[in-house]
Amino acid sequence: MPPLLPLTRRTLLTGSALLAGSGLLPRAARAAVVGERRAVRLSAGPARASLAGAGFPDTAVWAYDGRIPGPELRFRQGDTARIAFANALPEATTIHWHGLRVPNAMDGVPGPSLPPVPAGGRFDYEFPLKDAGTFWYHPHVNSGVQVAHGLTGAFVVEEREPIRVDRDLLWLLGDWRLTKEAELAGGFGHPMDATHAGRIGNTVTINGAVRDRVSVRAGERVRLRLINAANARVFALDFQGHAPRVIALDGQPVTPHTPPDGKVVLGPGQRADLVIDMEGRPGEGFDVVDGFYPRMAYRLTRLTYGDEAPLRDSPLDAPIALAANPLPEPDLAGAVRQDVVLDGGMHGAMPKTAGPRGPFWALNGVAAMGHHHLEPLITVKRGQTQVTAFVNETGWWHPMHLHGFPFRVLSRNGRPAEHREWRDTVLLGPRETAEIAFVAEEAGDWMLHCHVLEHQETGMMAVLRVTA
Ligand code: C2O
Ligand code: CU
Repeated sequence: MPPLLPLTRRTLLTGSALLAGSGLLPRAARAAVVGERRAVRLSAGPARASLAGAGFPDTAVWAYDGRIPGPELRFRQGDTARIAFANALPEATTIHWHGLRVPNAMDGVPGPSLPPVPAGGRFDYEFPLKDAGTFWYHPHVNSGVQVAHGLTGAFVVEEREPIRVDRDLLWLLGDWRLTKEAELAGGFGHPMDATHAGRIGNTVTINGAVRDRVSVRAGERVRLRLINAANARVFALDFQGHAPRVIALDGQPVTPHTPPDGKVVLGPGQRADLVIDMEGRPGEGFDVVDGFYPRMAYRLTRLTYGDEAPLRDSPLDAPIALAANPLPEPDLAGAVRQDVVLDGGMHGAMPKTAGPRGPFWALNGVAAMGHHHLEPLITVKRGQTQVTAFVNETGWWHPMHLHGFPFRVLSRNGRPAEHREWRDTVLLGPRETAEIAFVAEEAGDWMLHCHVLEHQETGMMAVLRVTA
């Protein structure tokens, strides 16, 4: 249960928001409360966590509310979220609400007019929740270090009319590089990582711990929300013995489908919502295997069936398609086109200015270091539809993330995308091209970057400026 502390006067008077969040109100009563302003407190600071499991000491981490991952923030579509944030870290930070359509000033990107939250400082984030779905939050300052220290959390916006499932589960996937004593390994931003695949770890956690098993019940239908909160690791999850169906990508509903080759691929920053019918028998167990990196497949966990009698004999017969979010549809006929070429990295064309710490990567030949005083790479008028092909000329994987505007994926390597899915992060394989389209609906400077944080911090970041 997330610690939803009611702060607003209205909430204190009626208590209804608290009840709505606690699941104590029947569904009809909850649905009636729309447009509620709901407040939570959140802090970031040093903590200790048991990540690696029994037999290992705790790890010194940075955490939201002292927990790894941070509290699961749960709101409902149409409500307004208010997060009273306090920074107890030894350095400045911000919170970026990854994938949520928030006003520019609430996006957690530091800039000349919006400094980061200093050590000991506070900031109140407030934004209406336009879209339902699975989102997440993390810092946007010194991210390669702060995210690797554990500053990540899930942000779920519930649909007003949810689909019928027996359980709603969430796995926030973390990836840690730990020493034998389970301390965080140093060497953040090391050029060896930055010029290659990023800081890939050696310990993968589900909701902050290595988990040998996850208990399930025969016959139940589970909605599983997956979040890749790793700095750099890509996942390709194979749910052995099961046939998950993807119902949302990056929080946005998609035509329900079984993923290609049965594997759920998640680049850093990406999410997938799955519906899984637990079709095994009581007492059985099935591995969930991550096989993204060839010859380095490992068991993420094991779905372990309890001994109870099956909940039902055949899978639940109920629709699984989610209602679309109110996103503006791109007007392809009237679109402007701005392509973005990714270059650099080991064995690639590194920027001429590369020093020992970078920059190692570039977008359209421009290598950005840090957030400040970035000239926009792309300028577009508000309301305009933009079509962009990301052209990956490197030999590496890059999850390209755009703030502010979920986009449709139109094509990959010139072939139409089967589901034209909405995303906020598109994963590009080596030498791959993906074409996207979106409506630039809010003015401001918005970040566009690779979500391999060591790439982002060594050149693979740019600003999209939307003018009023
Ligand atoms: Cu999840 Cu700009 O980041
Ligand atoms: Cu990258």
